[in-house]
Formats: sequence, C-alpha cells, structure tokens
Amino acid sequence: MNETKRVIVARELLPAGHELLAERFQVVDGGLDSTRPEVLDLARGASAIVADPSVPVDRELLDAAGDVLEIVANFAVGYDNVDLAACRERGVVVTNTPDVLTNATAELAVGLTVAAARHTSDAERRMRAGEWKGWDPSAFVGTELSGATIGVVGMGRIGQRYAELMRGFADEFLYVSRTPKELIEVKLGARKVDLEVLLAESDVVSLHLPASPENHHLIDRTALAAMKDTAILVNTGRGGLVDSDALAEALETGVIAGAGLDVYEGEPEVPERLLKAPNTALLPHIGSATGRSRDDMARLVAGNVTAVLAGEPPLTPVDLG
Ligand code: 8YV
Repeated sequence: MNETKRVIVARELLPAGHELLAERFQVVDGGLDSTRPEVLDLARGASAIVADPSVPVDRELLDAAGDVLEIVANFAVGYDNVDLAACRERGVVVTNTPDVLTNATAELAVGLTVAAARHTSDAERRMRAGEWKGWDPSAFVGTELSGATIGVVGMGRIGQRYAELMRGFADEFLYVSRTPKELIEVKLGARKVDLEVLLAESDVVSLHLPASPENHHLIDRTALAAMKDTAILVNTGRGGLVDSDALAEALETGVIAGAGLDVYEGEPEVPERLLKAPNTALLPHIGSATGRSRDDMARLVAGNVTAVLAGEPPLTPVDLG
C-alpha cells in the first residue's frame, strides 16, 4: 500500500474496483449517505477523488482537496457534475467510464421505449392495485413500434447502439448529431436531420446526449408541441435535457402519447406531476445497472486512478479542452 496517496470515494465504488484501489492506496469512503460537509472533509489531502453524477465536483471540493489532487475519476460516462475548467486550471485529470455501459444503457432505453409505447407501467400498477376486472378490448391500448420512425437525438456510442437494437422494430431512423455518423447511415439508412425535422417526423424521440448548459431544456414546451400527438419521448441521458413541467403538461393534455424516463432534474426528487402523468414508464436512474456494466465501470475507475497516480496516462480521459 502506498500510504502517501489518499484516494477518497465520495459515495460508493463497487468491490470490483474498490479492491484494486485498496491494494495500492489508502482508500476512504464517504458512503451512499455522505453529506456535502463530510465529503469536503474527507477530500482534504486526497490525491484522487472518485465521484459519481450525484457528487458536484466544483471549485470548493477541488480546493478542499488541495494541491496534491491529481485526478477526479467519475464513476459514470457523463461528467456534467464536474467543473472541467476548474480541473484544467489546477492541472487535475478527469476521467469517465465510456464504452463499458453502452450496451446496458441502450438496452434499457429499448425497454423504456416498449414500456412507454405499450403503457406497461400503468397496466402493471393498476393490476397490482387489484384494479383488473377482466379483459377489456379498450384498456391500455398502445402504439405498435413496427414500422415506426425512430428519432435519435445524440448519435454517440449509446445512441448508435440504441438505433441498432431498435432495427428489430423500426424501418426508418432520423438522427441529430454534431457530426455525421457514416457507419449508422450505411447500416441503418439513418438520415441526419435538424431537430425540428426529427421532432415532427418521429414516432419515438430518444435522447442520448450529454447534459451541457447549451442543451438545458432542449425538449421544452415548443419542442413537445412539435412532436406528433402519437409519439413517445424516451430519456436515458440526463434530466436537464427535458423541461419536466412542460413534459407533464404534454402528457396530461395529450400533446404527446407517452414517455419513458430514467433520469430527472434534481435527482433523487421526481416531480409529483410526472409521477402522476398518464402513460409514463419511470425508472430510478438505472441505465448502467447490469452486473457486467457496473463491475466494468468500477474497474475502469480503479484503472484510471492507478495509472494517473503512477504517473502514467489515464485510460479514458475526458477532454478538458
Ligand atoms: C450512472 C450514468 O453513473 O454513466 C452515467 O453517466 O448516468 C450512469 O451510469 C450510474 O447509474 C450511477 O448513478
């Protein structure tokens, strides 16, 4: 063990990664219930901070760690919780966990798509509540995905995998992306279009882009109004991409037909109105939650910390510009 290097885990790192770190460093854990003051206190003198999307890594936390801090390793592919400019100024490396959660997250997005299209959450909830009085030809009548046009907003790794998986259902793919994705155009005949076109023509709109100040509430009241009234919205990206009040209203008034959500603004709070909105499949941020994916993410976190603290390049660095 290298006693001089202190690694703090702000909340929790799974054993697959934690054990690798504990062999080499002094590892201190905040735990899932750690409070902000506790994390700030823990951080003092840390060479590495292991964070996750619920841990703001801002100037205050970086300053609490001090000059010895070398790396912030996020236990997630998304890193909107990390102040990249502040890390760059301090020469602190930032890493994330791409690739290893691509399948898990894309598969969950497919599940949410089917669930929202077929009202499975409402149907199960009512049945569990003892409200099933017998077969009813007009109950929980949903939308068939065969022949649907799938709109993918953000055609990165997860968006591409989602589109590939959805090929089993759908014929036509539209996507919004900064750069054209040739592979997916050749494989699926996907067409790169403007958001306005995608919203107007898609039967499913699935969000797969990282959160940034520029795309905060990308899906707002105007965007929802531009969607078909038979369309569904799926969000496995970040809650901030969607104005949840506008979404709840759109669901209540039939502006769109349904939604499948895994992420929320202000997690773990979920707006009451969304909890009550019709035709919604709601999950508690479990996109990457498969045994394989979470273990691989934990190992990648440990690999990044170990490399950087040994003076080697990180395995999966975030570009700090
Ligand atoms: C979460 C995610 O990190 O990787 C991401 O960006 O959102 C997820 O993998 C994970 O579910 C823990 O919150």
